[in-house]
Amino acid sequence: MSHVLEKSPKHCAKQGLNIDQHHKKLFFFFSTLFTSILSLILVIWLILRPSKPDFSLREADIYQLNLSGSHLLNSSLQLTLLSKNPNQKVGIYYDELQVYADYKGQQITTYTSLPPFYQGHQDSNLLTASLVGTWLPVAPSFGYEVGRDQTAGKLVLRLKVNGRLRWKVGTWVSGKYRFNVNCVAVMAFGPAIPTGPLTSKQGSHCATTV
Ligand SMILES: *[C@@H]1O[C@H](CO)[C@@H](O)[C@H](O)[C@H]1NC(C)=O
Ligand SMILES: *[C@@H]1O[C@H](CO)[C@@H](O)[C@H](O)[C@H]1NC(C)=O
Repeated sequence: MSHVLEKSPKHCAKQGLNIDQHHKKLFFFFSTLFTSILSLILVIWLILRPSKPDFSLREADIYQLNLSGSHLLNSSLQLTLLSKNPNQKVGIYYDELQVYADYKGQQITTYTSLPPFYQGHQDSNLLTASLVGTWLPVAPSFGYEVGRDQTAGKLVLRLKVNGRLRWKVGTWVSGKYRFNVNCVAVMAFGPAIPTGPLTSKQGSHCATTV
């Protein structure tokens, strides 16, 4: 009896050691595998590293900007943007694109949706959008601000695009990333009422954040 009692704990201890070593081996195996996969993904990402898409403003025209009363705005704008994918090995899917115009921090048109599209390696696309607002409430200072700009001779608008994009590398497609584009249009706006639309044609670069 005493013999068995003496041996049993030793036996248990030895088995416990075996299990421990087995676990350690498994742990090392999986942590090495995991680290290798992570470094491989990192290396591939660093080699491809997608650059954010390039946007520039080709043309912006204001056809209407009229107030009813002091704070209800009717607006009508036309916008052309050039979109370019600077990447040699990464394609871009654009989804859920929404465009609007902003004057001094106030939205002056409703959102206009653009159809989703795919842009291949180093491809360019022209995007055009009609932006309108009907009885859109604006701050009571709006009329005053526009009048002041007219006296100063120039009107500054921001044209904004919100959307989501997915990167495509080979046949692999990434998840969706939010992105924002912010373009500035400066328009000559003299004291004489212009006959045509107010136009900006500078081809200025827009700021993009992904
Ligand atoms: C709106 O403004 C345009 C000029 O910007 C003018 O030609 C037009 O008559 C105005 N419309 C109304 C309804 O006031
Ligand atoms: C704004 O649009 C509405 C609806 O089309 C129209 O009834 C109204 O007269 C317009 N106001 C101005 C100032 O153009």
